[in-house]
Amino acid sequence: MRILVTGSTGQLGSALLNQLKGSDYKVKVTSRRKPEGIGHFDWVYSDLLSGEGLDDAIKDVDVIIHAATSPIKNSKNIEVTGFENFLSKLQHIKHFIYPSIVGIEEIPLKYYKLKYEAEELLRNSSIPYTTVRATQFHGFVENLLLSKPLFKRYVIPGSIKFQSVSVGEFAEHLIDLINKDPQGRTNDFGGPDIMTLREMAELKIKINNETNKVLSISLPGKLYKSFRDGKNTCYSRKVGKITFEEHLGNKID
Ligand SMILES: NC(=O)c1ccc[n+]([C@@H]2O[C@H](COP(=O)([O-])OP(=O)(O)OC[C@H]3O[C@@H](n4cnc5c(N)ncnc54)[C@H](OP(=O)(O)O)[C@@H]3O)[C@@H](O)[C@H]2O)c1
Repeated sequence: MRILVTGSTGQLGSALLNQLKGSDYKVKVTSRRKPEGIGHFDWVYSDLLSGEGLDDAIKDVDVIIHAATSPIKNSKNIEVTGFENFLSKLQHIKHFIYPSIVGIEEIPLKYYKLKYEAEELLRNSSIPYTTVRATQFHGFVENLLLSKPLFKRYVIPGSIKFQSVSVGEFAEHLIDLINKDPQGRTNDFGGPDIMTLREMAELKIKINNETNKVLSISLPGKLYKSFRDGKNTCYSRKVGKITFEEHLGNKID
C-alpha cells in the first residue's frame, strides 16, 4: 500500500511523517518546500494553487492523507478551487483521508467556510473518503494566541474556549484509518479538556515560570461569541489523552 501525505512541512504533516517512519508503508510526501529528515521517503514538489507537480505526486498512490492547507494566503483558491482540481485527478485512489475542524459550519471564519465547502466537494465526489474533524492543536493555540505578551501581559479574549488536542495523537488516529474502510464523515477527534484561553494562559505562565500577567478583553461580534460558546469544541468526544499542560511541560505531542 502506497501512502501520499500532502502538506508534509506543516504541523500535522510533520507529525504524520514522524509516525510513518516506523511503519511498513511505502510513503511519498509532497509540499512546495522539501521537509527535513525524510529519510527514505520520496518527496515530490507540488503546488495546489498552480497544479504543478500534482500528477507526479499522486502517481502510484493508493491512499492520501491530505494535510496541505493555506488558511490565509490564496485560501479560496487552495482550499476549494485547487482542492476540486486535485480531487478530479483522484479516480484511482482507494481512500482519501481529509482532516477538518470541529464546528466549522457554526463559526463565521472565512477559512472555516472554505473547509466546509471542501468537505462538501469531497462528499459529493465519487472518491472513497473519510473526513475527520479535530479540535485546534495544542501548538496552534500556544503559538497563535499565547506567543507574544505585550508589555509583560497576554492581552487575550480570556473567555473564549478551546479543547485543544495533541497533533501527534491526531496524526496517529489518521494513520489508523489507512487500513480501515472509507467511512465518509466520521466521529470528531477532540482533546481531553475544555479550557478558557485565560486558563490556558495562566497554565503557561505557571509552567514556564513566566512573570507575565493576563489581561482579558471582551470582543464584539459573532466570531468571538462562537468561540466563547465553545462551538469549536466537542464535549462528547474527548478522545485525545495528552493535555495542554503536558504539551507545555514536556513539549511532547
Ligand atoms: N492547526 C490546527 O489547529 C488544526 C486543527 C484541526 C484540523 N486542522 C487541519 O489539519 C490540516 C493541516 O493543518 P496544519 O495546521 O498542519 O497546517 P500548516 O501547519 O499550516 O501546514 C500547511 C501545509 O500545507 C502546505 N501548503 C501550503 N500551501 C500550499 C500549496 N499552495 N500547495 C501545496 N501545499 C501547500 C505547506 O507546505 P509548503 O508551504 O511547503 O508547500 C504545509 O506543509 C488542515 O486541513 C487543517 O484544517 C488543523
